Amino acid sequence: MRLGLLGFGVVGRGVYDLVQSRPDMEVKKVVCLEDITLPDAEVTKDFRSVLEDESIDTVVEAMGGLHPAFEFVRDCILAGKNVVTSNKALMATFYDELIPLAKEKGVLLRCTAAVGGGIGWLSELERSRRTQTIHQAGGIMNGTCNYILDAMTQGGMSYSDALSLAQSLGYAEAKPATDVEGTDTWHKTILSANIAFGVSLNMASVPAAGIHTISAADIAAFRARGLVCKLTGIAKEKDGKISACVQPVLYPATAPEAAVPQNYNLITFVGSASGRMSFYGQGAGRYPTAYNVLQDCVDILSGKGFYSPYGEKVDACNDEPFRYYVRGASDAWLEENTKETWGNAVITNPIPAEKMHLWRAQHPDAFIAAFEK
Ligand code: HSE
Repeated sequence: MRLGLLGFGVVGRGVYDLVQSRPDMEVKKVVCLEDITLPDAEVTKDFRSVLEDESIDTVVEAMGGLHPAFEFVRDCILAGKNVVTSNKALMATFYDELIPLAKEKGVLLRCTAAVGGGIGWLSELERSRRTQTIHQAGGIMNGTCNYILDAMTQGGMSYSDALSLAQSLGYAEAKPATDVEGTDTWHKTILSANIAFGVSLNMASVPAAGIHTISAADIAAFRARGLVCKLTGIAKEKDGKISACVQPVLYPATAPEAAVPQNYNLITFVGSASGRMSFYGQGAGRYPTAYNVLQDCVDILSGKGFYSPYGEKVDACNDEPFRYYVRGASDAWLEENTKETWGNAVITNPIPAEKMHLWRAQHPDAFIAAFEK
C-alpha cells in the first residue's frame, strides 16, 4: 500500500510514525504547508502532486475541517484512490456526497478514528449490525470535554485551566469551541447513528448543547448530590423513529459513565441480541487516533470498505422527556415547568428534549443538563 498523507499535525505525524515499522505500507508523499523534511517521504505543499501520483493507491486525510478536506477527499475518490480519514466533521457533513460516490467509483472509504479516537467503535458497529438490530448507540465521545469535566469534578480545577491543559495535550480541536459547544460530539453522534441504523440523519434535526457555560458552582451542586456531569451524544431507534441529541447528562456516581477519567471515552450500543455493549479507551490523542487510522489501512488492504449501506435521509424526533437542571436564565415557560429549585438553578418536570433544546437556543448563556432517568 502506497500512502499519500494529507496533513502532518497531531494525527498525521502519528500515522507517519506508526507506518515506519510496517513492511506492507509506506508513506510516499505528505502534504504539509510547513517547511519540513522527512527522511523517506516527499513533502509537498501541492495537493495535486498526491492526486496525480498514480503510484499512490490510498490517501489518509488528517487535516481536519471541512474545506479543503472535502474537495481533496472527493477528488481522490474520483481519481480512484481509497481514502482513510479521521475527520468526523467531514464524514457527518458530506455523508450524502461521499458514501454514494465511493460506491459508484468502486473505492474503499473508512473513518474508524473519526469517532472514539483509538476505540474500535465504528468497526465494531459494522460487525454488530450484521447479526442484529441496533436500538441505541452513543455515549461519552469527546476527550476534551471529558478531560475538562473530570478535572473540574475530581481535581477542583477551573474550566479555563482544564481546557488549556486539554489543548496542550493535543486533545482539543483547532477551535476548541468545536469541542466544548458540543459540535464535535454532534458530528460523532450523527455518524454513529447513520452507521448503526443505516440512515442519513438530517443534521438540523439533531440538537446539541455543550459544556461551555458550566460553572464550578454547578459541579459543586452535582457533587453534593452524588451526581457526575458528562457530555454525551446518544441516538436511539424505536418503532421506526430515530432520536438523537447531544447534551450534558447527570449520572449517579455509581454509573460506569461517572467513572470515565481524563480524555477517555465510553461508547455503548444496545443490540437486539447482544444487549448493552460498551467500549472504553482514549478518545483523543496522537497515537490512539493514528492506531485506528492504521487499522483502517489494514482493513482496506483486505478489501473492506464503508461500514453500512447508504440509507435514506430522515429527521430525528426528540420527543423523549427528561428532567433538566437549568441555570443562568429564566422565563415564564421555565417557571411553569419547574419542579424544584437548587440554589440559583431549577430542576424541571420531564420535558421533551426537543422543547428544552429549543428553549436553550433562545438562552445561549444558560447551562442545561439532563438527568439520566
Ligand atoms: N477533539 C476531539 C476530542 C479529538 O477531544 O475528543 C478526537 O476526536
